[in-house]
Amino acid sequence: MIQTINTILNDGLQVIQSAKSQKELLDAKVAVLGKNGSLTSILRNLKSFSAEERPIAGKLVNEARGKLEQAFATKFEELKILELTARLEKEKIDITVPSQKRNMGRLHPMNVVKAKVLEYFVSMGFTVDESPEIETDRYNFDMLNTPVDHPARNLQDTLFVTDKILLRSQTSAGQIRKMEKTAPPIKMVSPGRVYRADEIDATHTPCFHQVEGLVVDKGITMCDLKGILSGFARYFFSADTKTRFRPSHFPFTEPSVEVDASCSACGGKGCRVCKGTGWIEILGAGMVNRNVLSGCGIDPDVYTGFAFGMGLDRITAILYGINDARVSFEGDIRFLKQFD
Ligand code: PHE
Repeated sequence: MIQTINTILNDGLQVIQSAKSQKELLDAKVAVLGKNGSLTSILRNLKSFSAEERPIAGKLVNEARGKLEQAFATKFEELKILELTARLEKEKIDITVPSQKRNMGRLHPMNVVKAKVLEYFVSMGFTVDESPEIETDRYNFDMLNTPVDHPARNLQDTLFVTDKILLRSQTSAGQIRKMEKTAPPIKMVSPGRVYRADEIDATHTPCFHQVEGLVVDKGITMCDLKGILSGFARYFFSADTKTRFRPSHFPFTEPSVEVDASCSACGGKGCRVCKGTGWIEILGAGMVNRNVLSGCGIDPDVYTGFAFGMGLDRITAILYGINDARVSFEGDIRFLKQFD
């Protein structure tokens, strides 16, 4: 009997010593001192001992229990410190490690330029009305006074989805959509992508960007066109920028003009950017053709208007010194990173 108790005590002490975690230790404690533990069961069986043995056994069991509990408590504290130290070690943060650089998003130069263009017109009271990139030939050509047999259709050859649906070749389609649903006075700009059949290389792309403008009201004249567009050139490039209006032709405006701004790179003296001319062509414009107004249900004897279409890619390229037209729609991250 004494031996059994000693064995339980020694085994118990050994298990305690070798426990590697608090959990292991608690399991061991239950196995010896728990309700059904080995030492507890001896106490429970005291009856089976003889009258002389009983007090001795009881005393021994209690001594053993005391020693074991003491050992458990000591080991428990020891393990607690060990486990805490290990956890602290594992969760240690080295605050001297350099942080990872975050990739910040930024606006594409095309969008920066677009925003600057819109800023001017919005400040002059224009609304911004975008229109679809996939258009009908009715809006892209017919209603713009460009019937099926008109030669201007060849100049603006684009990708046809069906024979009536195409990728718009000009934002001018947006003029018609606006005039059909809004009665004058109208003052709107319409930015967006346009498409034309073209091989891709550094100076040609089948996709580029325009901002369309349209003003329709009573008494609008060529003076308004010149004033608004000259003001734009001064706002966009610099206060001393000059403008030049050359006669041109568009089926949907009459008269039509091509507008040049004095070169912002050389101040008009002539350089590589303006190919020695001192001028940069920035847009096409004109007084809205009577046929276009009446086609949209606007009486051309009461209302007049002017329209313009500006290419964004070239002015962006000039401002940012970009020499490859493809970057304007490719979204190449290496190109964009230059402006971080
Ligand atoms: N849509 C014409 C083009 O793409 C530009 C333009 C717009 C001209 C409005 C006159 C008026 O070339």
